Amino acid sequence: VAPLKVGLAGLGTVGASVIRLVAEGKDQLAARCGRPIEIVAVTARTKGKDRGVDLSGIRWVDDPVMLARDPGIDVFVELMGGDGDPAKAAVEAALSAKKPVVTANKALLARHGFALAQLAEANNVGLNFEAAVAGGIPIIKALREGFAGNSFARVYGILNGTCNYILTRMEQEKLSFAECLKDAQRLGYAEADPTFDIEGFDTAQKLSILASIAFGTKVDADSIYVEGISSIDSADLMAADELGYRIKLLGVAVKTDTGIEQRVHPTMVPKDSAIAQVMGVTNAVTLDADGIAPITLVGPGAGGLATASAVVADIGDIARGAHVSPFGCATDSLTVAGKAPMQMH
Ligand code: NDP
Ligand code: HSE
Repeated sequence: VAPLKVGLAGLGTVGASVIRLVAEGKDQLAARCGRPIEIVAVTARTKGKDRGVDLSGIRWVDDPVMLARDPGIDVFVELMGGDGDPAKAAVEAALSAKKPVVTANKALLARHGFALAQLAEANNVGLNFEAAVAGGIPIIKALREGFAGNSFARVYGILNGTCNYILTRMEQEKLSFAECLKDAQRLGYAEADPTFDIEGFDTAQKLSILASIAFGTKVDADSIYVEGISSIDSADLMAADELGYRIKLLGVAVKTDTGIEQRVHPTMVPKDSAIAQVMGVTNAVTLDADGIAPITLVGPGAGGLATASAVVADIGDIARGAHVSPFGCATDSLTVAGKAPMQMH
């Protein structure tokens, strides 16, 4: 059987881990997906940099847009990040050339997801982004496929690994905010600009993607009320502890009479609740829908291998020929302006 030929743009924390996973899981992937998967061409900013993975036999292409259009690839994987070019131009180029795209780029999807989904559908190719939300938790698949027939009342959770890692270590090890953030950056959890993590924007981007799939609305990150954790200090964590609570950064999307309300903010959660037990770089997403008691999925939220596992699963779906509409029924926006929280969660 002909291999699925992959072009990969971005060889950082996630991209290098994808190279490693595909190489190490070669035989298993071929068996599970019905055909071999081969990374045949790559690009990044700096040619020749040691990335701790074996790139021998893989062609280097100088420009992400050229790689996206390369006739020698069947699928384009975007792992550069950023909501503008070259990520946007490269994804558009691949979709226009009728090549399916896999991306972990929630910033790009939150800003341009609807237009990119339309372009993917116009060209009848897939746009897969399991890795963009909650790292290693297969939450996009769960929402689209596992609960395709359910109607959601609320979707919420811990969607940023860096923030949960910081809050956990500040609470358990009494470390400063700055020390914990530095470690999250060293471990590859934080965004290139960590402001996106600590000010809540990364959570908001992910929430907008989840809400779009759960509620069938247009991705709308701009209407989200956003407050991050940069002003939380150890005194806040101790005060919450004394009252029987922990502080978690939550993203919440709720169906209201007027539309879908979305908000991101630090929240006091009772210490004995399921969400309060989620520690470190772990994420958790609770799905509250008709016909099911609320279900919480918990798993690694950031880091090279956890994220790469979702990217490779998406590539595997394409190898199998699975094709889904990116956001389901992405209708006109039904979101309303998010409000600051008035009470505890
Ligand atoms: P890194 O910063 O580690 O890697 C980015 C890669 O993209 C680097 O190889 C860089 O090249 C390359 N790159 C950046 N700009 C350009 C450009 N203009 N042209 C060509 N190549 C470019 O990021 P991550 O691997 O951490 O993240 C990648 C994507 O995955 C982002 O969208 C991020 O939000 C998302 N993500 C990350 C997670 C994580 O845990 N890290 C988890 C979930 C999603 P060079 O190495 O030469 O500088
Ligand atoms: N910076 C992000 C986080 C990466 O910490 O959750 C995973 O999306």
